[in-house]
Amino acid sequence: MRYGDFDDDKREYVITNPRTPVKWINYIGTLAFGGFVDHTAGALICCQDPALNRITRYIAQMPSSDFKGETLYLRMRRHNGYGVLSPFFVPTLDSFERYECHVGLGYMRIISEVCGVRTDAAIFVPLGQRCEIRDIRVTNVSDAPIELDLVPVVEYTHPDALKQLTNADWVPQTMVSKVGREEDGLTILVQYPFMYRDVRVNYLTSNRPASSFECDRRRFLGDNEYGTWARPLSLQQPELDNGETLRGDNIAALLHHLGPLAPGETCRLITQLGQAESIEQALPRIQHWRDECNVDRAFEELARFWDGYLANLQVETPDQAMNRMLNIHNPRQCYTTLNWSRYLSLYQLGYGARGIGFRDSSQDVMGVLAHAPDEAKSLLERLLSVQRRDGSAMHQFNPLTMEANEGDSRERPDLPDYYSDDHLWIVLAVCAYLKESGDEAFLEKQVPFYEKDHDGGALEAGTVLEHLRRAVEFTHSDVGAHGLPLLGFADWNDTVNLKAGAESFFTANLYGKALLELMELARYLGDVAACDQCRARYEEMKQRVNHYGWDGEWYLRYLDWDGTPLGSRANAQGQIYVNGQSWPVISGFATPERGRRALDAVYARLNTRYGIKLSAPGFDGFDPQRGGITTYPPGAKENGGIFLHANPWAIMAEALLGNGDRAFQYYAQINPAAQNARAEQYECEPYAYAQNILGDEHPQFGLARNSWLTGTASWAYQAATQYILGLRPGYSGLEIRPCIPHTWAGFQVRRAFRDAVYQVVVENPQHVCAGVQHVNVDGEAIQGNVLPLFHDERTHWVHVRIGQV
Ligand code: GLC
Repeated sequence: MRYGDFDDDKREYVITNPRTPVKWINYIGTLAFGGFVDHTAGALICCQDPALNRITRYIAQMPSSDFKGETLYLRMRRHNGYGVLSPFFVPTLDSFERYECHVGLGYMRIISEVCGVRTDAAIFVPLGQRCEIRDIRVTNVSDAPIELDLVPVVEYTHPDALKQLTNADWVPQTMVSKVGREEDGLTILVQYPFMYRDVRVNYLTSNRPASSFECDRRRFLGDNEYGTWARPLSLQQPELDNGETLRGDNIAALLHHLGPLAPGETCRLITQLGQAESIEQALPRIQHWRDECNVDRAFEELARFWDGYLANLQVETPDQAMNRMLNIHNPRQCYTTLNWSRYLSLYQLGYGARGIGFRDSSQDVMGVLAHAPDEAKSLLERLLSVQRRDGSAMHQFNPLTMEANEGDSRERPDLPDYYSDDHLWIVLAVCAYLKESGDEAFLEKQVPFYEKDHDGGALEAGTVLEHLRRAVEFTHSDVGAHGLPLLGFADWNDTVNLKAGAESFFTANLYGKALLELMELARYLGDVAACDQCRARYEEMKQRVNHYGWDGEWYLRYLDWDGTPLGSRANAQGQIYVNGQSWPVISGFATPERGRRALDAVYARLNTRYGIKLSAPGFDGFDPQRGGITTYPPGAKENGGIFLHANPWAIMAEALLGNGDRAFQYYAQINPAAQNARAEQYECEPYAYAQNILGDEHPQFGLARNSWLTGTASWAYQAATQYILGLRPGYSGLEIRPCIPHTWAGFQVRRAFRDAVYQVVVENPQHVCAGVQHVNVDGEAIQGNVLPLFHDERTHWVHVRIGQV
């Protein structure tokens, strides 16, 4: 069963049945102002930080039928009172004649028809603005006049999102909501917690006169809140109470009489929910957004932004589900993770425990380089500024205060307080940025380290290059009894938390990959000594990984504090981990023969039709010695679940070894667009990667959760574009190394790179997976497979033939 379908021409997914298994969401705006809107128009909006400056109250755990954050009521006069309907389905849950939620790029557009009224509402944040626009058109599609009222409603939260949930006296005692200004019937309702009255206010207003308003939830619902959101008693009165709130649960509701709408007649209402220092300061903007033409223009500008963002890389392959992900939904999701890291989604609730993750965002950066290199660069700088002087990194930071912390390791004072991998990801991210942009000057930029003096000034700063050197230096010296990197609190797998002294093969491989990157950089910069040093360290770690890490059929994942191998045939649970196998190939530590066997073990023991499990078999029972992994039942999340983030690494490893059939099989089986037909079982959005799918040890095998904010977005995109299609940015050009299914006759890519556009046509007449035979640029054959740089703003035609070499 499906709940909707893709509309690739409009670059939308269209939901046609509002009863989706869980809410399906979309993001609007950016971290500067924005949040997510669900397919019933509930919205969680914040400004700069969901923990410290949250605006709407959206409690994700409440049932789907509940009111969440924002809605709109339609009211029709009937002979015995008023009929009150929700054009967005929630909260009145009417039966619709038509319901479409268009999940677009930076907007949600909901079109519904109920009781003779068509509502068409676009919800978005104009580029760079601090307000959410709801551009609502209602049309009488019946054959008689309708007397219609529109009542947009917002429910506010205290900006300190956690306080809202923890103190039910302090919060309402401080919350104020009243009329800010009324002129010609145009009403601005203003809202703030008392302490912010003079510095920061929220407002709701519209472009049409409101005949009455309400700021107090209790009065709006009526009968001491025994009136409900589905049937607010105040909407049975001709007018709202014009009630301000000096304490209590703050809402903003504006009642607009549209008067009688003749058959076929349309009326447009534009609401704005914004934040400003004061209403006076916001007035010019407020007036601006009351003008329909300005709203139209802003909506077009948003489309232009996305045109530009997406145009840098467009593909045409024989696989439709791949095309729609690579051309639209996957790069869009990468932009979302760039903004929100793992901070705010329907699942990661933004209450402040997380913030921006160091390792997560370093990886996210790599997903947007082809599209938004400048935004990527500024995030890189922020990340580098929470790296410590010893080269390790703070685990996460608050984007507003830039205060960082040690993450979940704080919950276990008995274990080390750092993660062994965090700082190494930034090496990969910076090098990827340099290859994409050619911005060598960035390496010389001074960026502070995290440690501060009493006045909050940085104790030390260093160049970006120095930051990278210290990152690998940290791991070089932070090794255990076997010379392998100590695990710290955890490596990439947050949930395996072993006693101090345990060592991580994952971190060893990530370190190897970081050294490879630094070697390549040093070679490019002509620094022979640095290159030699990296090589020596690389060889040393390679030798250790192969000496201690080979288990006979695959690679181990950890050595416990006492040297016990984990991820071994000898273990009853957690015998084999996918990252244990993919990463020795990515780092180049695995010999081709061991790499092949390790990846075959993944195929045989970890692959399922819905994706590759992170490990198997699952642990069955809580064991504090193993850590977080044992808090899940077998088959869930990191405990034998299909943890999607790790799947693209297996795709990359297969591609590196030339197995394009398997690389593509792994890609296709987790493609969310390909799950559309089984959405009832999959449950999450078919247009965004989820973090996890329950594995085959779990009775609900195939069910996805934690969609949107996952490293899967960045890595699936990199795996597909750089490893399957094989367009890899390099310091001196764009390398072409496809590894595709042998059944493909070819594919095409349009790729903007370093101020030129490459229109690449790949042909596969012999039906092989890999092997570049011939490359032709603008009609001339070139040596090798690296496309030269042009910097001429022109389009260059590239013909590539693959075949037996
Ligand atoms: C979550 C975390 C990520 C971690 C992964 C595996 O996705 O955000 O940092 O690497 O889980 O534990």
